[in-house]
Amino acid sequence: MRWNGVMWWFMVAAVVATTTGGKEPELHRVGGKRGWTDQNVNYTEWAMNQTFYVGDWLYFGFDKRKYNVLEVNQTSYQQCNDKGFIKNITRGGRDVYNLTEAKLFYFLSSGGYCFHGMKLAVDVVEFVPSSETVLYDNGSPVLMAATIGKPSLLHLICFGLTLRRILNY
Ligand SMILES: *[C@@H]1O[C@H](CO)[C@@H](O)[C@H](O)[C@H]1NC(C)=O
Ligand SMILES: *[C@@H]1O[C@H](CO)[C@@H](O)[C@H](O)[C@H]1NC(C)=O
Ligand SMILES: *[C@@H]1O[C@H](CO)[C@@H](O)[C@H](O)[C@H]1NC(C)=O
Ligand SMILES: *[C@@H]1O[C@H](CO)[C@@H](O)[C@H](O)[C@H]1NC(C)=O
Ligand SMILES: *[C@@H]1O[C@H](CO)[C@@H](O)[C@H](O)[C@H]1NC(C)=O
Repeated sequence: MRWNGVMWWFMVAAVVATTTGGKEPELHRVGGKRGWTDQNVNYTEWAMNQTFYVGDWLYFGFDKRKYNVLEVNQTSYQQCNDKGFIKNITRGGRDVYNLTEAKLFYFLSSGGYCFHGMKLAVDVVEFVPSSETVLYDNGSPVLMAATIGKPSLLHLICFGLTLRRILNY
């Protein structure tokens, strides 16, 4: 029966791995309700409250007659230098940007607005779905996946445990 128990948990672990392996891309509204503006938004504080994962999107909502969005490098970000930018994100004022890799991205608005706080640094990280630990249940090793902030995974494990009790493995 011990082998059955191991096989059972192997199956549960496989289901867990396939259901939590991916992540829906998230759209981050830069600046929250206030959007991309020079009116007293601290974008450093805004970004501190978010976690940016590879594949997520930034949404810049702004008045295109005044502001724009340029992707720049770190030095240009620090110095508010709008010359020689990497990419012009500006289109209609409801513009998105795909965070395609795990690195620091820098944005600013030209026209002097960067000096009024319109600068944004975004630290993009790789999404790590789960960390696995081997636990012991009645002497048989049990593969258990633990994820912070994934209640569905915990439910799945509880479901597995209950079912295992019922079937009396
Ligand atoms: C924005 O917030 C950060 C972190 O709290 C702080 O270090 C920085 O001085 C603030 N910037 C402005 C322009 O107030
Ligand atoms: C960060 O999030 C908390 C909780 O949602 C909120 O109370 C706080 O105002 C946020 N801070 C900023 C700078 O957005
Ligand atoms: C956005 O980035 C993700 C991750 O690199 C990629 O899978 C996806 O195809 C990109 N989407 C577009 C529309 O470029
Ligand atoms: C950053 O961009 C500016 C403007 O194009 C350029 O002068 C500078 O050499 C760049 N710095 C780095 C470290 O690439
Ligand atoms: C960025 O692109 C927009 C739309 O194509 C254009 O109107 C604007 O002049 C560009 N800004 C810069 C600084 O190149």
